[in-house]
Parts: sequence; C-alpha cells; structure tokens
Amino acid sequence: MTQRVAIGADHGGFPLKAELVPWLRESGYEVLDLGAETLVPTDDYPDYALAVAGAVASGKAQRGIIICGSGVGACIVANKVSGVRACPCHDTYSAHQGVEHDDMNVLCLGARVVGGALAREVVEAFLKAEFLNEERFKRRLQKVLDIESRNMVKKKGG
Ligand code: RB5
Repeated sequence: MTQRVAIGADHGGFPLKAELVPWLRESGYEVLDLGAETLVPTDDYPDYALAVAGAVASGKAQRGIIICGSGVGACIVANKVSGVRACPCHDTYSAHQGVEHDDMNVLCLGARVVGGALAREVVEAFLKAEFLNEERFKRRLQKVLDIESRNMVKKKGG
C-alpha cells in the first residue's frame, strides 16, 4: 500500500500541485512536497523532476507525482533515474494499468492538459493500483530492468 507520495512541480504545474497536496493529505497519504514552494515563473522542471525521482529511487517515497505544463519534460527527466518508471497519464485507464502491468512508480501530469477534477481521478487510480504479480508482467518488467542495468550508470550506494 502506498503511504508516502513525493510530489514536485515547476511553474507550469504549481497551481495543480497546490490543489493536489492538501487533497492527498486529507485522503490519508503522507506527502513529501519537494517544491516549488512558491510560484517562480522562471524555474526549471528538471530540478523538481529529479528531486521526486530521487525520492522514489531511494525509497523515501513509494510513489511520485511530477507536474509540469505537459507532463513531458518531467517524464523525460524522471526516466533518467535508475529505478524510476515514469509516464504522463491523463486518463484513469493508463494510470492504473501502468502500475498493474508496468510497475510505473512515477506519474507525470500536465497541468495545461488536465483540470483538477480529472487530475484527482487519475492520481487516485495511480495510487490505488498495485503491480500484478503475474508471470508475464514479471517477465516483461525483468526485461525492462535488464535494459536499464545495461544502459544506465548506477549511482554509488543507489
Ligand atoms: C514550462 O513553461 C514548460 O515548458 C514545462 O512546464 C513543461 O511543460 C515541460 O515539459
């Protein structure tokens, strides 16, 4: 069961993060808010995406949510961190199926793509989903992990 959720957003995602954080806390999740703390129109999505991805990769949080304007930049950055499987999802099917089949552990949202109500439904589908421990999904995940270990440099101690 997901308990701790790391969340981060640049200026493009800041208003949606401000809406989601209190709602997540009211829903019973422990939220690790990794910024931005204020709306800074010149800030850069890689900084927040890396912070969230690092928290998930290190086990400080079980799941991560990164919000930028489109969800795309956040996803590009997060997938460069070993152990992170991130994707932009703006529909509930992808949000739960991505966890169930692919063990997605970071959800990327585009605040210029979805409104708050849909974002909450997508986040709920993502956080409530669990990886399905079935042979075919485990086999495919192992192939993903093998590709990762052949192509990504692991950080010392991580
Ligand atoms: C920022 O204006 C915007 O480019 C960023 O939030 C994001 O959409 C990048 O993918």
